[in-house]
Amino acid sequence: MPVTVIVGCQWGDEGKGKIVDYMSSKMDVVARYQGGNNAGHTVVINGEKYVLHLIPSGILHDAVVSVIGNGVVVDLVGLVKEINEIEGNGFEVEGKLLISEQAHVILPQHGILDRARETSLGAKKIGTTGRGIGTAYAEKMARRGIRACDLRHKDTFVRKYREFGAYCNEVLTKFFGVEAVDVEAHLEELLKCGERLKPMLSDTVTYMNNAIASKKNILAEGAQGVLLDVDFGTYPYVTSSSPAPGGACTGLGISPRHINNILGIVKAYTTRVGEGPMLTEQKNEVGERIRKEGGEFGATTGRARRCGWFDAPAVRRAIQVSGCTGIVITKLDVLSILSEIPICVGYETPSGRTNLLPFDVSDIDQCKPIYETMKGWECDLSHVREAGKLPQPAIDYVLRLQELMGVPIDMVSVGPDRRQTLAFGK
Ligand code: IMP
Repeated sequence: MPVTVIVGCQWGDEGKGKIVDYMSSKMDVVARYQGGNNAGHTVVINGEKYVLHLIPSGILHDAVVSVIGNGVVVDLVGLVKEINEIEGNGFEVEGKLLISEQAHVILPQHGILDRARETSLGAKKIGTTGRGIGTAYAEKMARRGIRACDLRHKDTFVRKYREFGAYCNEVLTKFFGVEAVDVEAHLEELLKCGERLKPMLSDTVTYMNNAIASKKNILAEGAQGVLLDVDFGTYPYVTSSSPAPGGACTGLGISPRHINNILGIVKAYTTRVGEGPMLTEQKNEVGERIRKEGGEFGATTGRARRCGWFDAPAVRRAIQVSGCTGIVITKLDVLSILSEIPICVGYETPSGRTNLLPFDVSDIDQCKPIYETMKGWECDLSHVREAGKLPQPAIDYVLRLQELMGVPIDMVSVGPDRRQTLAFGK
């Protein structure tokens, strides 16, 4: 069976980019199925760092075709910038990147509306990336969105863009009380971006299904994490799409019967960017040390990530809705700085103990983490190339996570480079 789905099983930033890149050498197709340029995938190849926001990490491999599926929202200006950057680094894009004709586009007004809404929410803000993701998905569901196929017909695009621009200005001025946007000022650049992207537009649904029929190896790459899923995450502190594996079916136009591997990516501790509950957050010196050691700053916005202990009930919730067949533990090396490592194994609640993160944030607020403490290993792991050569306390830590998650751990990552990825338990 050809399709593997990769999902983040926390609040994003689990290190999916590195694992997608690692697995891409065995793939024919790597496809993104949701999200937009709110994502930030950092990939290190031979010491060189590449940050991708919208384009699947497969683009860094010569033999891989990268697909931006219909479930993705495509920032026209952002995508062209990213293509230029990748080409500037010597990678080929044209002929290797397909963009779904049904993908909805993000226009400058989506970002402006997103930021106006966040400002108006004040202390109740979501902490979005401000990239217009939620507003683009909202327009899609309201059946007013503009799709990539509209770029094929200049008149249609211009008409829809002007209608949308006028609508946004009403909302901006009358509801948010901020300045209107000069609609015409953005038009020329958008049309130029449209021209650049036109040759890459494709019926990606047929492409994906043909690839499946001809038994190609396909990786479907989720962005963000399952705890940010609009249905299963900590609503309303979520993104506006479906990172959970079901999103791969609707976001690429493929049947669930073609998916057999679902690989969950899990960081050895927890991080979160933006607002919303995070029960194991360490707002103290230890949290600060983890942030510094792990370089926990957003690849897209540069924001400091909130850091804390591994939260088994939260990961278990993500695994429950994802049906993961295997797990990759990332950033184990970051914990080398600690002599003792607490793990949250469950929560105390007013109605007793639970081992699953509740869905309702007001229930989450009532939960108190129950910790057990593991011994640290306090030595550098970055040079380790075989799981068997990890220090025993590190092996014990990974095995305890495996027991708590109830899913086999297939790989452990001890650094950002492709070479720092160890097969586990085989
Ligand atoms: P939005 O996706 O920009 O609407 O932001 C909604 C929430 O998702 C905010 O808490 C963001 O910080 C979070 N978010 C969006 N993209 C990512 C990501 O790639 N990694 C981690 N958090 C993200």
